[in-house]
Amino acid sequence: LFVIDAGVVSCHPNLANDIRAYFNHYTILSLVTEFILIPGGEIAKNNIKYLEKIFDAINHYGVDRHSYLAVIGGGAVLDLAGYAAATAHRGIRHIRIPTTVLSQNDSGMGVKNGINAYGKKNFIGTFCPPDGVFNDDQFLLTLSDRNWRAGISEAIKVSLIKDADFFHWIEINQPSLTKRDIKSMNYLVKRCAELHLDHIASGDAFERGSARPLDFGHWSAHKIEQLSNFEVLHGEAVAMGIALDTAYSLITRPFQKEQAYRIIDLLLAFGFDIDNPIAHITSTFCPLINGLTEFREHLGGKLTITILREIGEGMEIHHVSPFLLIKASDWLNQYCNHKLKIEKIGG
Ligand SMILES: NC(=O)c1ccc[n+]([C@@H]2O[C@H](COP(=O)([O-])OP(=O)(O)OC[C@H]3O[C@@H](n4cnc5c(N)ncnc54)[C@H](O)[C@@H]3O)[C@@H](O)[C@H]2O)c1
Ligand SMILES: [Zn+2]
Repeated sequence: LFVIDAGVVSCHPNLANDIRAYFNHYTILSLVTEFILIPGGEIAKNNIKYLEKIFDAINHYGVDRHSYLAVIGGGAVLDLAGYAAATAHRGIRHIRIPTTVLSQNDSGMGVKNGINAYGKKNFIGTFCPPDGVFNDDQFLLTLSDRNWRAGISEAIKVSLIKDADFFHWIEINQPSLTKRDIKSMNYLVKRCAELHLDHIASGDAFERGSARPLDFGHWSAHKIEQLSNFEVLHGEAVAMGIALDTAYSLITRPFQKEQAYRIIDLLLAFGFDIDNPIAHITSTFCPLINGLTEFREHLGGKLTITILREIGEGMEIHHVSPFLLIKASDWLNQYCNHKLKIEKIGG
């Protein structure tokens, strides 16, 4: 049974025929003739009717535990279909074919799925590894510039906590990545996916502990997405979250200024709107600060936030001071304004 992101179908009109041709050739496989189309983006996770649509198809076509549900799409449709597959009949095998930078370099490899509820990201979901993941760079060619760039933030994130050389590689290759050079993008996707997979395979895949290093920058990112009514994309919100937590790392410990400048400069060079007022923390009443409580609540246990010891190495903290967050946000705001002025003077 194929579940497909409608946004992908409109950019790849031959996709349905290609899938049919493949199954006509490999007759050992049988294909459910109807393709289940789901609108791409966060709407797929926000409206329960799309989950029901997949359950209806699983039920109607008698898809069982020895069958496969294959999903082609961005991270949102992958999260939704992964959840349907993990729960129908207590678990149908599933294959992910991610089609965005973000889903190829991060979520496709992951073990998590889910949908949003009560205005909270991923409130309902399970941990369930896929049976296979196929990354095909042909899909990336039709992405909007915005979605092409958004997924790069997850690569910056994982490089900052795990691999300083990879961060340096992204700095050097920022111009070619911005110009949509597919060779550079393939390297970025592969290295990022590798780092995610290594972490998941060697660590706490089912997140029984309190630490979630791969969620560096995410406590605020999830809240920014929600506060913007999902106008800000996940990857864009992650870029804002990385900027804020970099500033917090600088304000609270001897994290070198030069390293903080490099990170913020890189995010600005990609054109991430990290100085968007939605990410400013101006007072202790700022709704963004609630993101900390929601982040802890989602995971349970002790609040554990990853900040940076240095580029390539994260460290965990268990307390975040709202006053120092305001200071960090202020520093970030001033630095971005200063950079913008220099750019204007430079022409
Ligand atoms: N499960 C996890 O571990 C995990 C990790 C990170 C992010 N996520 C989730 O992933 C979601 C974000 O995923 P995303 O960034 O992939 O974006 P997305 O799924 O929101 O898709 C963005 C848009 O791109 C379109 N699209 C997808 N592929 C396309 C293609 N090849 N060509 C043209 N258009 C295409 C979609 O139709 C949609 O309109 C969020 O819900 C986030 O929470 C999950
Ligand atoms: Zn993420």
